[in-house]
Amino acid sequence: MADLISEIQALEAEAAAAIAAAADAEALAQVTQNFTGKKGALTGVMKQLGSLTPEERTAVGKAANTFKAKLDELLAAKEKQLTESKFASLAETEFLDLSVTPPEFSQVRGGVSSGHTHPITQTQRRLEAIFTSMGFSIVDGPQVEDDYHNFGALNFTDDHPARDMQDTFYTVTGHLLRTHTSTVQIRALESMKPPLRIIAPGRVFRYEEVDASHEHTFYQMEGMIIDRKVSVGNLLHLMQTLLTEVFGREVDVRLRPGYFPFVEPGFELDMKCLVCNGAGCSVCKHSGWVEVLPCGLVHPNVLRSAGLDPAEWQGAAFGLGLNRLVMMQHGIEDIRHFMAGKLEFLRQF
Ligand code: DAH
Repeated sequence: MADLISEIQALEAEAAAAIAAAADAEALAQVTQNFTGKKGALTGVMKQLGSLTPEERTAVGKAANTFKAKLDELLAAKEKQLTESKFASLAETEFLDLSVTPPEFSQVRGGVSSGHTHPITQTQRRLEAIFTSMGFSIVDGPQVEDDYHNFGALNFTDDHPARDMQDTFYTVTGHLLRTHTSTVQIRALESMKPPLRIIAPGRVFRYEEVDASHEHTFYQMEGMIIDRKVSVGNLLHLMQTLLTEVFGREVDVRLRPGYFPFVEPGFELDMKCLVCNGAGCSVCKHSGWVEVLPCGLVHPNVLRSAGLDPAEWQGAAFGLGLNRLVMMQHGIEDIRHFMAGKLEFLRQF
């Protein structure tokens, strides 16, 4: 029995040395394992209790309990010490000096780094301000639409190529992602009474092969006027005002005939390329002109689908490609930059 007790006492010295040497929490856990775990040293000693008298067992048991208590005490002290020294070294190596201005932000707005709106949003807001100052209201519509609002009510015949699966994302529930903001023309006609003037900025989706000038998700701003008398002259004036305001100078425009089912007559409005001033460059595909603003007079069938009498009401509409406009504005050569989420790009605006 005396042997067993001295064996336990020897363990105490061993354990104390092991704990003192432990460098981290993992090493401490290993020490516990080695001494009091299932296959630990103390367990080995206790297995020999069988051959002892009850009194002897009590004495050895007591020694074992003393050992365990001592072990716990040593472990707790060491654990505390490890935690403290970990924080002490963290404070040495990872302290935070709140008075230092990070170099990458020091150039920005007086040393304070603040986020800002996306370049597309910036131009959108500017256009909204211009149009609301001319009496337009800003209206919105759903991005997940039905065939009627995206096509049917806009005078797309059933076999119109734009209905083809290639251009449109369809959902399994028979809805689609709107391919243009012209849907909001219909939404506005349903909920507002003429005369009316609206713009509808928003996100649109096309099933496109993505490249430098095509995205599957992009932004448009629709505009529409409904009144008793609306002419191509009104439309042109509106377009010219819009572009002059956006670019901050007079821009040259030209109208070409263009076909859209929901306008008659329909036009493509081009503006003289601002990158090369009409001389021809890669942005204008060497033509000197850039297509920016499809527009036209609202087709009688669209008015009829909204319950308006074309003999009484007339309209003009346009569908501005916001991405392309912003590209012209800032000389951006690749449409994919807009959605890439790269700060290097965004911080320039
Ligand atoms: N919705 C057309 C498109 O995305 C653009 C458009 C053309 C809108 C003529 C109009 C318009 O309002 O009058 O291709």
